[in-house]
Amino acid sequence: MRNAGLLLVVFVLALSTLMVLTSCARKVAPTPQALQGGDYYSHHCSPCHGLELGGGVAPALVGRHFIEEAREHGYDNAGELYEFITENMPPSAPGSLSTEKYWAIVAHILRENGIELPSNLTEGNAGGVNIHL
Ligand code: HEC
Repeated sequence: MRNAGLLLVVFVLALSTLMVLTSCARKVAPTPQALQGGDYYSHHCSPCHGLELGGGVAPALVGRHFIEEAREHGYDNAGELYEFITENMPPSAPGSLSTEKYWAIVAHILRENGIELPSNLTEGNAGGVNIHL
């Protein structure tokens, strides 16, 4: 009987740990576009912004700081973020990637910030995707 009690305690502990862990991971399900964007991001953006978007020689593109900066830079939806990025990034050659790659990268960045995305982010629906905490 004592063993059964112990087992129950262990089980409850394991269950609550699992619940805490899953609630911490605020990641939304990836869309194929966002996954593809991860590849493009690692080629074109990660050398400066970090592989995990945590920043490096350039600011982090994930988390509270990024969301606050987004407001300051005047982009609070996906369409405006797209515009900012195509007009400014990468700094040595703004606008040098294809439209498709830029949209995928924007989808990747937003997903990493836990923002829900339409299955395919485009000019037509990006204005409705708000950037928020
Ligand atoms: C050569 C280094 C470099 C590369 C490559 C680069 N960036 Fe940047 N990026 C910067 C720097 C530096 C800043 C800060 C500029 C500023 O605040 O005036 C910045 C700023 C930004 C910002 C604004 C951040 C904020 O806090 O508001 C975004 C968004 C961004 N970059 C996205 C991208 C994306 C997407 C790519 C890939 C297509 C990219 N960058 C590639 C250097 C880089």
